[in-house]
Amino acid sequence: MSLLQWFRSRSGLDTRAAKYAYADDPVLGYTSARKHAERWVNSTCGYCSVGCGMQLGVRENKVVSVRGNPHHPVNRGKLCPKGLAEHYAIEAEGRALYPLLRRDGALTRVSWDDALSTMAERFRAVQEKHGPESIGVISTGQLVTEEFYTLGKLVQLGIGTRHYDGNTTLCMSTAVAGYKRSFGSDGPPGAYQDLELADVILLIGANIAENHPILCTRLEANKSKTLIVVDPRVTKTAMMADLHLPIKPRSDLALINAMLRVIIDEHLYNESYVDAHTSGFDELRSSLEPYTLEYAAGITGLDEPLIRRVAHLCAGARAPFIGWTMGVNHSTKGTETVNAINNLALLTGSVGRAGASPFSITGQCNAMGTREAGFSSSLPGYRKFESEDHRNELAQIWNIDASCIPAARGLAYPDIIEAAVAGRIRALWIIGTNPIVSFPNIDVLRHALGNLDFLVVQDGFHPTPTTELAHLVLPAAIWGEKEGSYTNSERRVSKVNKAVNPPAEARSDFDIFLQLADKLGCREELFPQWQRPSDAFEEWRRVSSGRLCDYSGMTYDAIESSGGIQWPFTATSPDDPSSTRRLYADGHFETEDTRARLIPTHWAPFPEQPSSEFPFVLNTGRTVEHWHTRTKTGAISILQQLSPRAWLEMNPTDAVRLNLKPHDRVDIVSARGRVNRVELRVTEIIAAGQVFLPFHFAETNANQVTQSAFDPISREPNFKQCAVRVEKSPTAHS
Ligand code: SF4
Ligand code: MOS
Repeated sequence: MSLLQWFRSRSGLDTRAAKYAYADDPVLGYTSARKHAERWVNSTCGYCSVGCGMQLGVRENKVVSVRGNPHHPVNRGKLCPKGLAEHYAIEAEGRALYPLLRRDGALTRVSWDDALSTMAERFRAVQEKHGPESIGVISTGQLVTEEFYTLGKLVQLGIGTRHYDGNTTLCMSTAVAGYKRSFGSDGPPGAYQDLELADVILLIGANIAENHPILCTRLEANKSKTLIVVDPRVTKTAMMADLHLPIKPRSDLALINAMLRVIIDEHLYNESYVDAHTSGFDELRSSLEPYTLEYAAGITGLDEPLIRRVAHLCAGARAPFIGWTMGVNHSTKGTETVNAINNLALLTGSVGRAGASPFSITGQCNAMGTREAGFSSSLPGYRKFESEDHRNELAQIWNIDASCIPAARGLAYPDIIEAAVAGRIRALWIIGTNPIVSFPNIDVLRHALGNLDFLVVQDGFHPTPTTELAHLVLPAAIWGEKEGSYTNSERRVSKVNKAVNPPAEARSDFDIFLQLADKLGCREELFPQWQRPSDAFEEWRRVSSGRLCDYSGMTYDAIESSGGIQWPFTATSPDDPSSTRRLYADGHFETEDTRARLIPTHWAPFPEQPSSEFPFVLNTGRTVEHWHTRTKTGAISILQQLSPRAWLEMNPTDAVRLNLKPHDRVDIVSARGRVNRVELRVTEIIAAGQVFLPFHFAETNANQVTQSAFDPISREPNFKQCAVRVEKSPTAHS
């Protein structure tokens, strides 16, 4: 069996993601033996936030293989297809190799010294002309925490702009905002172990079989659970469920509110927990007045008895686990939906208990690290911009004047783009992300980038659709070529190690930040004596000390030897570093009065309703073989062979009505644009009236048709649910 056949046997029609990959598999064993690694370097997967421990096999200064680390507490030796093929990214075609500066219209090779001097000069010139805050920075969830911490300081205190955000706002800012409102701080309270200990698991808008495959091994290990999956599609995760609730698009908030109403009306809630540890119960109760079973049934398309039964299952559970991802977050009602989920957990006293947690399953490998190290929606260590005490505390640690620290956050990602359209942001630095594929309603973004005086794009790959537009391209090292730490979804900090040198002149993001600081003349002040990521880590330990995300007891050695440590972990933490920790177990939250807030929320129809011109609701999402905009996975032939192009899922009744056949090429058209020549998949995975398109593919970019609609609280885009029509492509010859 070839490796490709072996991959295939574990994906495609196999509905149980847990079967994808085993370290002791004869084929993988064969592959690694064939490549004769001379040494193995421990590290952590650089794709998703599951945070699997892996080992990189190195021979003659090349990474020739990877395997799951059998001792790692997260994955115990297993990896999914992306993880198993990750080493191919390092040697892939299209790595960025040299700094490139646009001269007479063409990107031309320059020295690092020229590149960074030019960047510093251009940024300062723009600031002199248009003010300090005419610079914006958009980063990623894929650097190491040491780099995020360094970058935050550099941008806010060195460059001197607050307008710094990450692509995490396209995915996680809703969970962050929801946690902050309910609990007073960001930070998922639970642990992966909860998936094994829960008796009821409710997954809302979370297709973990495709997106967090190794978490499915936890589901499989739990033999006594009831798994309820809320999703408009019959996803691979829904196929694993005991109970699948195929709700109408974005009706989850109405469903949860109706469940809350049943739980309160029938007195199924945990009264002593609510009394002791929450505020706002009466307001919540009266806000639920409209959410009768009948009302919710009309909105969700589910039967009344089914909604009631799910409410009873959750309220009657010993340990309910509620997980969610993009189905909830990618919505103008996202933050409210997270608050409704938290309300459900609070009413049943299910926060921070073994098996019980409202758990945001994060996306990128280190989206959590950028949230902790902050400077975008919070100050470092989940401190608040608005708090004078927090600003003073940081000023003291850094030995700077507190007035240097901004008292309010800068613009969020979509607002930076809007400011570029309006000409208020004149220079932009994009790091490790590819907005020309990932940002909604792409024409607006193109317009914004075209408007800039200076665009710097720092990436491990070139050309990408975004680097092609840059005035300056900075080539960065990627996973496997640099050192630091990632935090996964369960707040576990794992070590990332360097196995090989970056290609040609590419440098680690950490080195690029320090060298730019040199050029800006702020290196000694902000990063005294810093040479290595461990220097940033040492300062970060002190900065995080006493905060919820406390790293003060962690060392690189302890992280390595335990395979990852969940925060908070102080020098006096009594337990073994690798043991499971949860937040809020004592019922004390990060609010002023230590009580969690029960927050009234209201369902509303999604912003762009289908019409006779655009009759379908378009849903977007992912497939297991690819990562985000395919910068990495598109360059890995085994993953490309498995999933070479986008497809559009359409229900058979709609296909018959439109006279379309499987494999026809179709165009998807919205009020904003069109996606041409996508292969049609006729399947009951999708309900009538809806269509589904994966968003990874630049050639058939879903964001040609998505809309500019954002959650008013988190600023996350409503990527899902835009109104489209589907036409047979004019030159179709399938
Ligand atoms: Fe990597 Fe996520 Fe796959 Fe684990 S589940 S191997 S972390 S992509
Ligand atoms: Mo997200 S894909 O965790 O930024």
